[in-house]
Amino acid sequence: MTQPAQGLLQDRAVVITGGGTGIGRAAAHAFAAEGARVLVVGRRAGVLAETAGGHEGVRTFRADLADPGAARAVVEAAGDALGGIDVLVNNAVTMRSAPLGHIDRDNARDQVATNLLGPLFLTQEALPALEAAKGLVVNVTTAGNQRGWAGHSVYGATKAGLDFLTRTWALELAPRGIRVAGIAPGPIETPIAEHAGLDAEGIARLRARQRDRVPLGRVGRPEEVAWWMVALARPEASFATGLVLPVDGGASVVF
Ligand SMILES: NC(=O)c1ccc[n+]([C@@H]2O[C@H](COP(=O)([O-])OP(=O)(O)OC[C@H]3O[C@@H](n4cnc5c(N)ncnc54)[C@H](OP(=O)(O)O)[C@@H]3O)[C@@H](O)[C@H]2O)c1
Repeated sequence: MTQPAQGLLQDRAVVITGGGTGIGRAAAHAFAAEGARVLVVGRRAGVLAETAGGHEGVRTFRADLADPGAARAVVEAAGDALGGIDVLVNNAVTMRSAPLGHIDRDNARDQVATNLLGPLFLTQEALPALEAAKGLVVNVTTAGNQRGWAGHSVYGATKAGLDFLTRTWALELAPRGIRVAGIAPGPIETPIAEHAGLDAEGIARLRARQRDRVPLGRVGRPEEVAWWMVALARPEASFATGLVLPVDGGASVVF
């Protein structure tokens, strides 16, 4: 009798923050397609349920990662739903645009809490599970953060900080068998700009500007980022740690 086809990541336990929309949703579907069991985390039950809809291997958990108690709650939920954590994808983001002179303290605090402290304390809480699994942490950062991006100093600073965490954790966690990698997307077709408060006209202007700046001449698709997350989780990627991988249509190498 032939065995049912096994996915590349059969039964692996994967936690994805910000899994209700955009890149996180595509990642949930890409991991599930390879047989992984996935827990998607975010604040809105509706979008999380849409991600899980029709995907037997995808479960949902509501949490605001800016809350100090969220890290423990997510790791406990992963224990209950998945029995552990093989892969943790720190993907959730809050982005608010404002040039220096107009930066609101609460907005800045929210971005730091979600984009930097969120991954930090969630990963710290997940360490026993990750160590047991000889697991992988994927931090989703951004392609532009080694340069300036007018109006986005706080967002960019959280992502530059996240890259430093990626490289430092790779060193600290290698002896425990845990790998850490960053993925730095360029412009990708997701609701991020809408979530950041841009109106339809602003989004259209942004997209046109982005297309002009990307050597491949287009905005990327969430699936084109998710594929690399799955690839990093494969056993063949077992010698890769401490890298931050641009997936940006060449945007980061333009002079
Ligand atoms: N799209 C791009 O062009 C682009 C470019 C470079 C980098 N990236 C990076 O790619 C990652 C995914 O972004 P995306 O484009 O897919 O954006 P997105 O669709 O806006 O996804 C962000 C997700 O994070 C969740 N989230 C926000 N704050 C949260 C909080 N405090 N607690 C829990 N969940 C929270 C949101 O859901 P709730 O509101 O329901 O919580 C949302 O589902 C981000 O790290 C982003 O910086 C994206």
